[in-house]
Amino acid sequence: MYDMMDAMMEARMFKKERPALVQQASGKVLEVGVGTGKNLPHYNEDAEVFGIDFSPRMLAKAKRVAADLGKSFQLMEMDVQTLEFADNSFDCVVTTCVFCSVPDPVKGLEEIHRVLKPGGQLIMLEHVRSEGPVKGKLMDWLNFIPVHLYGANINRRTVDNLRAAGFNHIESSDAWSDILKRIRVVKE
Ligand SMILES: C[S@@+](CC[C@H](N)C(=O)[O-])C[C@H]1O[C@@H](n2cnc3c(N)ncnc32)[C@H](O)[C@@H]1O
Repeated sequence: MYDMMDAMMEARMFKKERPALVQQASGKVLEVGVGTGKNLPHYNEDAEVFGIDFSPRMLAKAKRVAADLGKSFQLMEMDVQTLEFADNSFDCVVTTCVFCSVPDPVKGLEEIHRVLKPGGQLIMLEHVRSEGPVKGKLMDWLNFIPVHLYGANINRRTVDNLRAAGFNHIESSDAWSDILKRIRVVKE
């Protein structure tokens, strides 16, 4: 269902962003909200990839994608708000279109901050609330519709949430209008 509902946005916005974004990941990598495994084909050979998702059905599809690729990925059911990994254990964390639906985004980002090594990088592609006064308000008013239909918020302030979770020096650029952002931040 997710792949069907997402097909148009995937084709127009996300697909072209994935390879360049994911290829920045190296070393021990955690992909949060791995979903149906759309990023898996793009990882470099030298990346040791752990993928988590709190949806067993999304994860089952990701496992089929991983098996078809014939590469080794550690895919496990886990909630980003309560990660079962040690502090300072990953070189890189990747998220694409995840923080619209994490119930407590700051808690999830705090957990990412905890498991990243100092000097490790968080790489994200996330849709966020527009900073335009009219568009932003419209996204606030209409937010209940996607939340009701498929559990995703269209008005998340992810850059502010990163700061609240302890990240500084956040690099962000627009991938589509000002609502799809490429974000990169290094843990100090
Ligand atoms: C919109 S999908 C994106 C999937 C994939 N990252 C992609 O780019 O296609 C969001 C994914 O995040 C997962 N997710 C949301 N909240 C989560 C949480 N608290 N912990 C782990 N996974 C979560 C959902 O189950 C879903 O698979």
